[in-house]
Amino acid sequence: MVEISTSILSVKKGEETSTFFELETAKTDYFHIDVMDGKFVEKNTYQKMLENASYIKRISSLPLDVHLMVEDVKTAIDDFLAVEPNTITFHLEACKNKEEVYDFIEYIKKNNCKVGISVKPNTNIEEVFEFLPYIHMCLVMTVEPGKGGQTFLTDMLEKIKKLKEYITTQKLDTDIEVDGGINLKTAPEVKKAGANILVAGTAIIMANNFKTIINELKA
Ligand code: DX5
Ligand code: ZN
Repeated sequence: MVEISTSILSVKKGEETSTFFELETAKTDYFHIDVMDGKFVEKNTYQKMLENASYIKRISSLPLDVHLMVEDVKTAIDDFLAVEPNTITFHLEACKNKEEVYDFIEYIKKNNCKVGISVKPNTNIEEVFEFLPYIHMCLVMTVEPGKGGQTFLTDMLEKIKKLKEYITTQKLDTDIEVDGGINLKTAPEVKKAGANILVAGTAIIMANNFKTIINELKA
């Protein structure tokens, strides 16, 4: 059964509280926290996401799935560890070298948090293979990171399949999370390709019944 991680990026201003309560009732598996620093990607959601995450932490016991789209990964890890997330995912493209990737993996784990690595659409999936045995989840971006409501990049299906094949042959149990343009049309394709955690923002937030859309995405 796949899990759903609802991105709160597109939650309408002023409706945050009611939306978070409704998502908690609708039993999203995770709250997906999209942290953007205005450098790695154009938008800056850093403070807003820190506030939203700490608020959700207070009202819900559902896990936080933090997606760092930042250049200064170490600072962001420290800032978001404060909201005790389930997982912290950083971008491979934000790391200077392999040593730094291993340092971040170890540092996140040492702080009792699961670790994910995310790859942008133009990054070859083979570049993440060596880290897979040491991480809990690989986040395959199915849109260019930076904003919600974009169209799913179908070329990414091949990439997800290749990742799933490698994880299977290497007998790893790393989760495959996909993120961007996931809706009732694209969900079946990414599930077939091997994804087991789907991030959805617009598709859920714009729906009039969160429980229904979450169950339909899972089906
Ligand atoms: C984009 C974010 C995604 C995005 C998903 O940079 O990482 O999580 O918010 O939103 P939708 O589902 O609307 O594409
Ligand atoms: Zn995201």
